[in-house]
Formats: sequence, structure tokens, C-alpha cells
Amino acid sequence: MHKPWEGRFKERTEEFVERFTQSVSFDKELAFYDIRQSIAHVKTLLKAGILKEEEAKKIIDGLEEIERDIREGRFHFKVELEDVHMNVEGELIDRIGELGGKLHTARSRNDQVATDEKLYIKEKTVNLLGLLKGLRKTLVLLSERSLDLVLPSYTHLQRAQPIRLAHYWLAYREMFLEDERRFIRAYQSSDALPLGSGAVAGLDFPLDRFYTAEELGFRRLCRNSMQATADRDFILDVLYACAVCGMHLSRLSEDLILWSSEEFGFVDLPDRLCTGSSIMPQKKNPDVLELIRGKTGRLYGNLIALMVVLKGLPMAYNRDLQEDKEPLFDSLRTLEGCLMGMNLVLEGLSLRAENMLRASGGFSLMTDLANYLVQRGVPFREAHRIAGSITAYLLEREKRPEDLTLDELRSFSELYEEDALLLLDPKVVADRRRTYGGTAKDELLRSIEVAKREEGMA
Ligand code: ARG
Repeated sequence: MHKPWEGRFKERTEEFVERFTQSVSFDKELAFYDIRQSIAHVKTLLKAGILKEEEAKKIIDGLEEIERDIREGRFHFKVELEDVHMNVEGELIDRIGELGGKLHTARSRNDQVATDEKLYIKEKTVNLLGLLKGLRKTLVLLSERSLDLVLPSYTHLQRAQPIRLAHYWLAYREMFLEDERRFIRAYQSSDALPLGSGAVAGLDFPLDRFYTAEELGFRRLCRNSMQATADRDFILDVLYACAVCGMHLSRLSEDLILWSSEEFGFVDLPDRLCTGSSIMPQKKNPDVLELIRGKTGRLYGNLIALMVVLKGLPMAYNRDLQEDKEPLFDSLRTLEGCLMGMNLVLEGLSLRAENMLRASGGFSLMTDLANYLVQRGVPFREAHRIAGSITAYLLEREKRPEDLTLDELRSFSELYEEDALLLLDPKVVADRRRTYGGTAKDELLRSIEVAKREEGMA
């Protein structure tokens, strides 16, 4: 196998080095983008008068043929040709002869690889944005279904205050909406064309880079040829967006795993999304959720891995940058699976209203017993102390707030009247929280309407 650089070398490459330096085993994932880019490059060369009409046509036909063969699984990638770029070019030369050697005029693999990656990212992020939107829609539908279900909210994983379940789903919808902004940002970072920068310093051929950008659908050009070939921040942006989105999915998974335990009993997962135990007959395990939580680890790992690769690199391209691809491909693939898994789980979830309601009363109601006094002029700190003593009183007697009589309440403060007993109903308590963004039914109805409009569901 001939290497493009053999003119300079006296020895053939050690086999170990071929294996160690190759990237084709994974960067073949970029093949279609590489070909798309090459076709645009050929058109640019034609426009600059560097290729003749006839030559350009032959090269493009050859590239399209190669593309078809890859698509149909008939293409054999060769490790000796190192990476996807040299595999495609080598094959082109094999097929159309010497003329194929003109393809790499006025181009370096340094501007080529960054261009491939950006094309890849732009396509994949659009796909992820679609999955994210699907998940948010599922959350909105769940919110409508669970408007009248009440459960405790938790802080420190201790029961805090009753909420309507819709409020919880909408909280995650907000987080996934922020993820959308992060992915759009990542898309925008990838929307600047590196091609036409050469290996590092720019080109001594009169290429119209604006034309190439238009051909490939880039909104901007990289404005500095060194930055164009040295920069991988656009990949960091994707990896960061994936890591944060994965973290949201992981936290949601954690709640649902807890909620599906016998101890909580708030939800049931459908059998078709669970697995059993090979030894314990009673088990039904939430493996999809556990794996979403677990895979978040590698989403973080991929981000950190590339951050570390980049930190000591001298300007401009260095081969270290080849290490950017596996984290990128892995994060996109992993997050895609996690989003699909979570969507399936949410669509198949059964909600156990009784258990939620039972858990939502009790001491979650104490804030409101304090606020009752505040509304009658007691300073909040004093009211808090009184409600705290009521709590201690109940705990000593192993009673719950719902067991309180008016007389007992009045023994703590004369300000308690008959209507204070109404506060011993979690739904009433939830619906008192009417501020913008609160859990009261009216506010949730408004939030659901807004969400539906934003998601194009209304
Ligand atoms: N496989 C290389 C990478 O992923 C392509 C660029 C190689 N450039 C070079 N000068 N060796 O970064």
C-alpha cells in the first residue's frame, strides 16, 4: 500500500505504528460528510479555474460511486490508509486514476477533518433537538394527566410541602428546554467553515471560501486559518450539552427508581421496560433508568477527556486532536439512547395516586400552619417556633397533623380558628401557592397552556 508521503521516507511504516495511529476504525463514521465536503471542494476548485469542467465531473462521479458503495456496505476501509480521508481519496485514485490525485489540491486533512466534524455535529444535533422536543411533549401530556394528583415535594429527600404532580413534570420540562438552548448553541459553534484554511496558514490558491460555505450550508467562515485547524471548542460545546442533558435524565431516573420502589410506591414501570432477576423470583428491576443514570458517567468522562487533550496543545494542529472523535461519537450515541429510553419509560408509566396522596399529608402541612399565624400578624420566626412545637407535640404522641383538634391547636395559639383545620388537606395547601411558577392548580393550568403553545401542541 503506497502512502501519500512515501517520497520523503526511506523505510516503510512499522505495523505497530499503523495500528496505533489509525483512526479509520472509528472515523469512518464521517465518511458521508467527508464525501459531501469533497464534492463541494471540487466545485470550488472548478470555480477557481484549478480544475477543468471535465475533470471535476469525473472526480464527482467517482466520489458519488464510492458513497453508494459505502452506503450499501460494499466498501472496504483499510487500516494502512490510516483515516477516512485517505481511504476515500485512495479509493478514488484506484478508480479514476491519476486525476483523483487532484482532489487534495488546496486542502489539508487539518481543515478537512474539522469540516467533517462540524457537518456531522450539525446533523446530529438537529436529530437530538427532535428527540428532546419529543420528550418535552411527553412531559406536557403527563402534566395534563396528573394535574389532580398530589404528592409531597422533597428537599433533602425529606417530605417538604405538597405539590400537584403536574408541577414536577413541568420542572423537568423547563430543564430540557434549557438543554435545547445548549444544543442550539453547540450547533451554532459548528456553523463556521474551516475548509479553505489549508494545513495552518491559509492557501496560495484563489479559493472562494464563501462559495464553499454556501455549498455546504455553513452560515459563517472560520476567520483565521490557525484557529480553524486548531480549535475543537465546538466539540466541547456538544459534549457539555450532552453532559448536562444526561445529568437531567439521570436525576429524573433517580426519582423514578425511588418512586417505583415498594417504599415509595408512587409509580409502576411497565413490565416490557424492566428486567427480572436470575435468582430472586419477585424482582422487577428498573434497568433502563439505572443505565440512563449510569451512562451519564461517560457523558461527563467524554467532556473531561477532551478538555484534558486540549489543554497543553501548541498552536495549531497536533495529532492529539484525533482523540476528539471517539468521545464525540460516543456522547451523541449515548445521549440519543438515553433520550429514547426516558421517553419510553414516561409514556409507559402508571401513576399510583392513592400512595402519593397518603404521603403528601402529615408534616408536609406544617409550613401552612405557621403561615396561618403570619397572616394574622404573628412574625414569621415566632410562627415557625409555634408550628415547630406543634410538630414536637405530635411526634411525642405518635400522632399526625391530621389528628389535631381545634382545641389542641388553640393550646399553642389563640389565633387558630375553625378554618385552620382546612389546612390539613394537602390539595388545599398546594392550591394556596399561587405565585407565578407555583404549584396551585390555576397556575399549573396556565403553565401547561404556555408549554403547549411553546411545543406547538396547542
Ligand atoms: N485523522 C486525523 C485526525 O483525526 C486527520 C488529520 C490528520 N492530519 C495530519 N496532519 N496528520 O485528526
